[in-house]
Amino acid sequence: MIFRPVLTVRCALLAIMAVVSVAQAADALAEDGYQLWLRYTPVAGAARDAAAARATGIVALGDSPVVRAAVAELDSGLTGMLGGARGRSTVVADGSIVLGTPTQSPEVAARAGALRLAAAGAEGFVVQSTRWQGHAVTLIAANRDVGLLYGAFRLLALMQRHEPLTTLDVHDAPHLKLRVLDHWDNPDRSIERGYAGQSIWDFWRLPGYLDPRYTDYARADASVGINGVVFNNVSASSVYLTPRWIAKVAALAAVMRPYGIRVYLSVLFNSSLDLGETKSGDPRDPAVIAWWHAKADEIYRAIPDFGGFLVKADSEGQPGPRDYHLTQAQGANMIAGALAPHGGVLMWRAFIYATQDAQDRVRQAYREFKPLDGQFAPNVLVQIKNGPLDFQPREPVHPLFGAMPRTNEMLEVQLTKEYLGFSTHLVYLGALFSEVLQWDTFAHGAGSTVAHVIDGSLDGHTLTGMAGVSNVGTDRDWAGSIFDQADWYAFGRLAWDPEGDPKQIASDWVRMTFSNDPALVAPVVNMMLRSREAVVDYMTPLGLAHIMATGHHYGPGPWISNLSRPEWNPVYYHHADANGIGFDRTATGSDALADYAPEVARRLADTTADDLKYLLWFHHLRWSDHLVSGRTVWDELTFRYSRGVSTVRGMASSWDSLKSRIDPQRFYETAAFLGEQQAEAQWWRDACIAYFASQSKLPLAAGIAAPEHPLAWYEEQVYRYAPGRSQPDPDHGVAH
Ligand code: GCU
Repeated sequence: MIFRPVLTVRCALLAIMAVVSVAQAADALAEDGYQLWLRYTPVAGAARDAAAARATGIVALGDSPVVRAAVAELDSGLTGMLGGARGRSTVVADGSIVLGTPTQSPEVAARAGALRLAAAGAEGFVVQSTRWQGHAVTLIAANRDVGLLYGAFRLLALMQRHEPLTTLDVHDAPHLKLRVLDHWDNPDRSIERGYAGQSIWDFWRLPGYLDPRYTDYARADASVGINGVVFNNVSASSVYLTPRWIAKVAALAAVMRPYGIRVYLSVLFNSSLDLGETKSGDPRDPAVIAWWHAKADEIYRAIPDFGGFLVKADSEGQPGPRDYHLTQAQGANMIAGALAPHGGVLMWRAFIYATQDAQDRVRQAYREFKPLDGQFAPNVLVQIKNGPLDFQPREPVHPLFGAMPRTNEMLEVQLTKEYLGFSTHLVYLGALFSEVLQWDTFAHGAGSTVAHVIDGSLDGHTLTGMAGVSNVGTDRDWAGSIFDQADWYAFGRLAWDPEGDPKQIASDWVRMTFSNDPALVAPVVNMMLRSREAVVDYMTPLGLAHIMATGHHYGPGPWISNLSRPEWNPVYYHHADANGIGFDRTATGSDALADYAPEVARRLADTTADDLKYLLWFHHLRWSDHLVSGRTVWDELTFRYSRGVSTVRGMASSWDSLKSRIDPQRFYETAAFLGEQQAEAQWWRDACIAYFASQSKLPLAAGIAAPEHPLAWYEEQVYRYAPGRSQPDPDHGVAH
């Protein structure tokens, strides 16, 4: 990054750094973020006494690796919070925590309530204050051991948040079946769009060496209900399907298993051809079909609970059924057929746009997939990105949601912030994910939210899921920043319950990550909630999209127009010229509006609706057109860019005011990153205003400051070493 914080911010940071190094010397156990939200710091005073009385011992009625993981977590969590080691006991006493399933003791159903237990299903749980053998206990009940693990994590979270424990009556179950993190990690440990170091999956040293970090990763996932992991990049290498690598994946699966996590692999559509084991990749070729069946058999022999495959086909240079003039369903069903006998699933991505297709990019996947509704095999999920373009700060929801009632539809969101400032910008994605989940598709009238599409309730599906592109790497704090951990946490919570409230989730995360101090929790939650609107304002206000610099996608590049494929160029998306700005997707333009249900299309066609959130996504307007805000398009655009910068300034000053309430290490990192974010929000604003002014030729309204530099200065900025570029780069051919 060539932008440095302004001088005053820099001086303040140097002062903080001096304090940090003194503090670090004094405190070797400084907070480095490794513990995530599972810090289990000591509880004091009345809360401690209350918790200690409810945690005198741990009694598990059954035994399995999962039960042992639950007991170990309770033991270390209670030791951290309350002191004293408990271990596992066989004797129930007052204050015991009892874990059991109805198979382990018929008493469990009676105490937990048969109906509640039935509602818990395969993965849910009941945490109940009750009596057991004449003693007051806390019962964690579930139908399967994994529910006991989730119940243990819930109880620990309640203690971490100092919730009352005397009359517990908590029952919960996940709304979605697959809650999966997709790692875009390559065999050489680089991560496509990764901003937190290298891949944590050290395949070179597997299967011999199992990094203890794998277990901590699994604990973190399980604590928020994540139950699946795809180890490798969707732009896949077929090496993972070779016998040597299957043994490595099996070793990782063994670490994940006690935490209720199934493992999956991304595979190339033409893997057999790529590995040189068949002469074609044609899904109709009997040799190819036999190869996939034999490969699935081989994997399931090594990993009996293997989850299945994820496929990126016919997208950005990846092979796919189009190469053989077949449909996406025909391609998917061939591979799914090999997994079906083993109970495996196939996640088939809908992120497709053609190399040579003059049609508006955001319509292409809809046009290709919608006619295939009902043709996908029952063990296929079509995995759809939240928006029809590509993980922008804000997009309208992908029109495929709700449009394929006879197909299992799965949502894909991106935790790693490819288009949202990487890991240095504080942007809380819980707000973004929830906006998507609560979007009403009107597929079956009002209330047909994306949440109800993907939880299967709208069209009666049971194979349901949500995937998040992971932001995890080898950085000590896992995600590249403390606040990016919140996105991992929020993803898990919302995949478990898509109706979850992002504000509540943020509050829970802050309390477990920092402290329960109300004077800290409220302002930090407030910062997080404002952060998402801030990034939209300073990068892509009013429905603009994909105006980032190409290749790495860091920083502004609205002027870029020289890439080989039209839809890789920012100018393709904003259409700014002397007359106006915006992509006409109404009937007079690409008519992408027609892909939405009529109620939604009507709202999106209305240029006064939704606080103008999607305005320029769907409409090309004149600069001088007046908007519902009372401003012209030009003035509204510059107003929003400026507002984004002020919001970040406000976030930074909120953080500064909390200095005495936060440990120095995490305070310093966040203060430094917020300094970067302020400078870069300003850069975004100034560069975009300079560029759009060169098109509109209009003056800035009173109170809107001129950009610091001329446009040419912004155009000259080059970031050759920005992290996370893809190999090969989908925006290849870029000068920088
Ligand atoms: C984006 C991203 C690529 C990624 C692709 C995908 O285009 O920039 O790096 O491979 O999405 O989701 O497949």
